[in-house]
Amino acid sequence: MARTDNDTWDLASSVGATATLVAAARALATHSEDPIIDDPFAAPLVRAVGVEFFTKLVDGATDPAQFGAGYGPTMAQLTNGMAARTRFFDDFFHDAGKAGIRQAVILAAGLDARAYRLAWPAGTVVYELDQPDVIEFKTRTLSELNAGPTTERRAVAIDLRDDWPAALQAAGFDPSKPTAWIAEGLFGYLPPEAQDRLLDQISELSAPGSRMGAEGVPATPDLDEDAVRERMKSASEHWREQGFDLDFSDLVYLGDRAEVATYLQGHGWQTTAITANDLLIRNGLAPVEVDPDSDHPTMGEVNYVTALR
Ligand SMILES: C[S@@+](CC[C@H](N)C(=O)[O-])C[C@H]1O[C@@H](n2cnc3c(N)ncnc32)[C@H](O)[C@@H]1O
Repeated sequence: MARTDNDTWDLASSVGATATLVAAARALATHSEDPIIDDPFAAPLVRAVGVEFFTKLVDGATDPAQFGAGYGPTMAQLTNGMAARTRFFDDFFHDAGKAGIRQAVILAAGLDARAYRLAWPAGTVVYELDQPDVIEFKTRTLSELNAGPTTERRAVAIDLRDDWPAALQAAGFDPSKPTAWIAEGLFGYLPPEAQDRLLDQISELSAPGSRMGAEGVPATPDLDEDAVRERMKSASEHWREQGFDLDFSDLVYLGDRAEVATYLQGHGWQTTAITANDLLIRNGLAPVEVDPDSDHPTMGEVNYVTALR
């Protein structure tokens, strides 16, 4: 079903299922040879969601190699990509902690278990924001697994298209203190103007010394949206035949959007960025082929941005 302004989901449906997909990739990456990440909660969380396709994947009951070949990123590429991305944001928080930041905000947290698995400096408060069903599921499931946060965790159940700054401050967030923010795997699911608004709101709430880590979708001014949606639909059809029924072309907002780094520079941030392919190479993982003739960026061309205020 196509997106609407007030749509909602759980971890088995719509945008929520993408959180389960990337958690499954983290589970596979964690249990790979020479892993570069360690997310012990990814597999149990995915199993608890209860979608057979994902459960079989993390249990090794199906071979990930058969998924995706010839239809955009394969499951193997997705696993490597999520490993490198996870490493990037883990390192981001590590560096922010070393710099003395004790307030962290994970936007669109999904099944991110960083509040349960990272060694946060004493006194750190971690805020997690996502839709109510997603937040409630993760909190309850990790509690049932007898997992406790490694620092103070405050979950804020809110849609990021609503007044989340008010909800965040009602949960105790202090805008006078420097904050480390992350937006990982979020922007493609927000309309371009909602992305701008979110970056404005983050900027308003960021005291000097704040940092932001974000996954940015490259700007695509000449994009042939119909052609891209067609390609996404055929990829979704392939995944459906394998047991994963989700039409990505319905979930994402294409349209031209601001480059995250450029936008933040215009709002008082200093930024650096690295492409997903360079991040993969930095981590000793294979880059994804880039098609120079394509108007639609591949997974390898996504940007990972670090911003300082
Ligand atoms: C691909 S998942 C990424 C989850 C997590 N950041 C990670 O990397 O594991 C996308 C997440 O964005 C959240 N999301 C997307 N749009 C949202 C919105 N408008 N409000 C709150 N959460 C949203 C979804 O619920 C989902 O958890």
